[in-house]
Amino acid sequence: MSDDLAKCFEPATLNGLTLKNRFIKAGTYEGMTPNGSPSSALLNFHSNIANGGSAMTTIGYCATEADGRLNENMLYMQEEIRQPLSNMINELHLLGTKVSGQMGHGGGFSKNRQLQRRRPLGPNFGLNALGIPHGMFFCDAMTHQDIKHFVQQYHNAAAFMKSVGFDALEIHFGHGYGLCQFMSPKTNKRTDLYGGSFLNRMRLPLEVLAAVRDAVGDSFPIIGKISLTEGVRGGLHYDDALNIAILLDQAGIDGIITSGGTSTMNPMIMFRGNSILQPMLRAEKNLLMKLMLRIAGPRLFKDYPYHELYFLEHAKRLRDAVDCNMIYVGGASTNESFATLMREGFDFIQLGRSLLSDPALPHKAQRSLDYKSNCVHCNECVATIEHADGIHCPRFPPSAPIHIMAAK
Ligand SMILES: Cc1cc2nc3c(=O)[nH]c(=O)nc-3n(C[C@H](O)[C@H](O)[C@H](O)COP(=O)(O)O)c2cc1C
Ligand code: SF4
Repeated sequence: MSDDLAKCFEPATLNGLTLKNRFIKAGTYEGMTPNGSPSSALLNFHSNIANGGSAMTTIGYCATEADGRLNENMLYMQEEIRQPLSNMINELHLLGTKVSGQMGHGGGFSKNRQLQRRRPLGPNFGLNALGIPHGMFFCDAMTHQDIKHFVQQYHNAAAFMKSVGFDALEIHFGHGYGLCQFMSPKTNKRTDLYGGSFLNRMRLPLEVLAAVRDAVGDSFPIIGKISLTEGVRGGLHYDDALNIAILLDQAGIDGIITSGGTSTMNPMIMFRGNSILQPMLRAEKNLLMKLMLRIAGPRLFKDYPYHELYFLEHAKRLRDAVDCNMIYVGGASTNESFATLMREGFDFIQLGRSLLSDPALPHKAQRSLDYKSNCVHCNECVATIEHADGIHCPRFPPSAPIHIMAAK
């Protein structure tokens, strides 16, 4: 085994948290949280990841408040789920994996029918791209009072998440969600302190990072996922990502995850490979949404052929510019790629689809020098996001649950 490959299986620390190897399950909204509560299926899903050898798993999309959810079945941080969440994390710890929580907020897009406000809140008044087929056509602009509340909710959620046992927190700065909407000149048209210049657009994300840090203290790992490019004209691009990474690093983030794209404007840049359009059309039950997909789909789901390490070139520029840990995500699925990432100075590797298709990847990769994931990047799993049983790889369905605990 080469030194670079061997490094993947060596421990490393993330602000004092020791991870037994370099593999982290990427945040993939699991959808196993009926009415916002973690189910036994969610534990089974992450138990499979833990048993497969990943050092840390990520509970995808933990909304910081009820109105931060994209739909009414998403987890949101509230006292009512303290016990089941903490039980689940304890069980995962017993299986030898650390647990990170991805902190998300949909900002101005939502199809959550239980929205407490009249409309979701983004940087400005506009269309609510996700809500249109559900009769939720618009989003409103956050007032300064709303912004204060938004930041406070990140603070509260972070304190809650630390108290229930999460080992690390991942702030979602990318993919077009709430914070990204403020960062992007495409979606932020404000003319006050939170809009306009790059530094103004970064004000809210930096306030959120400071609030989360304040809530968890200096010696607790906070990582952030950013989009290297939104892939849309007038949006964030690679040079912006470099400056974003530098600012987050200076503000004390412990690690940066380099993703790309936006969920509502250009998702394929995040995945590459087969278009999601056909699987989504098959899965979609809402007729209006189906129609919208048919009309807008070919333009929305652009063609980006898959190749290994598709974000490497641009992620490397960030690696050279910051001191914090760099966590690579995007098309890492072979031992050759894992070794390359170590050689290029990345500290950790997040894996999405290759762990969906085979949760035992880390164990297998350690045993077989020329390991290649069985994932074919067909992206059918992406269309299972709202499946009643939660996300899964339809090509290589998960084996029977290894670990079952009734949700308490
Ligand atoms: C089914 C599915 C759900 C996803 N959900 C999320 C999510 O909730 N949050 C997020 O940041 N990324 C999400 N992603 C993107 C992944 O975290 C990752 O960035 C992407 O799949 C590329 O990595 P990969 O090539 O290792 O799969 C999701 C991906 C898949 C396949
Ligand atoms: S459905 Fe399975 S094989 Fe296809 S991209 Fe998803 S994980 Fe990979």
